[in-house]
Amino acid sequence: MSAPVVDACSIRITPMEEADILNVGRLHREAMPWSILSKMGAGFAGRFIRWIQEQEHSQVWVAKSADGRVLGIAGATLDRPRIYREIVRKHAVAIACSVLMNLWRPGVLVWLGRALRGRLRPLPDVSRVVPRPAAEGLFLALVEEARGSGLALRLCDERESAFRAWGLIGPYVILTLSTNKRVHAFHTKRGCKLVAQVPTRGHLIYEFHKELPPDDT
Ligand SMILES: CC(C)(COP(=O)(O)OP(=O)(O)OC[C@H]1O[C@@H](n2cnc3c(N)ncnc32)[C@H](O)[C@@H]1OP(=O)(O)O)[C@@H](O)C(=O)NCCC(=O)NCCS
Repeated sequence: MSAPVVDACSIRITPMEEADILNVGRLHREAMPWSILSKMGAGFAGRFIRWIQEQEHSQVWVAKSADGRVLGIAGATLDRPRIYREIVRKHAVAIACSVLMNLWRPGVLVWLGRALRGRLRPLPDVSRVVPRPAAEGLFLALVEEARGSGLALRLCDERESAFRAWGLIGPYVILTLSTNKRVHAFHTKRGCKLVAQVPTRGHLIYEFHKELPPDDT
């Protein structure tokens, strides 16, 4: 792995601001092009991430270089199902308009088709469903030059501090694509356990859990 080319000491991590929307969306799109948010365009991705941040017990952090460039982003929430329900309820019109305007993008059409097919499938036998913890470390992404610098760990520390401040004890979830070997190595190295492999909309999703003990020992 080549050495990172950013000066890790000068990087500041702060909560996302309104002015960060486009740059956050751009980074999300560059680093995670497979995500439906990215497929909807940088503007929509940044706006949606800002909506996540506006939810209760949810936060988005932005890592910036000394000259203000966005180098990394991370999100966390105490209750993923609730925040997505809230966002869809509150911003249904904006989301529907964006989906319609982006239907010409093949990736959006494919995603929509898979989502609709998933809705039509019968629900799994309830006795076989293992409930997933609601708390989740959402996206985590760095620009290419910042990878391998330790910044990803700093962002993870930031979100674990927030989880503790919100009173979380026990596991939180991280979902990744099965093919994303680098992020698996990263999370395994910091003590996350792979607990399930879940087929979701044409992908295999790995579900990692990270335990937050009552104290930091
Ligand atoms: C995932 C991500 C945040 C991790 O940050 P990072 O700075 O790359 O992580 P680190 O360098 O600390 O650790 C990477 C580990 O992955 C492994 N790794 C490094 N390069 C790798 C590569 N090219 N392929 C596979 N594994 C690799 C190594 O085990 C390394 O651990 P080491 O430090 O013990 O050698 C960053 O790579 C990223 O932004 N990726 C794109 C976005 C993304 O996929 N996000 C996850 C969405 S769920």
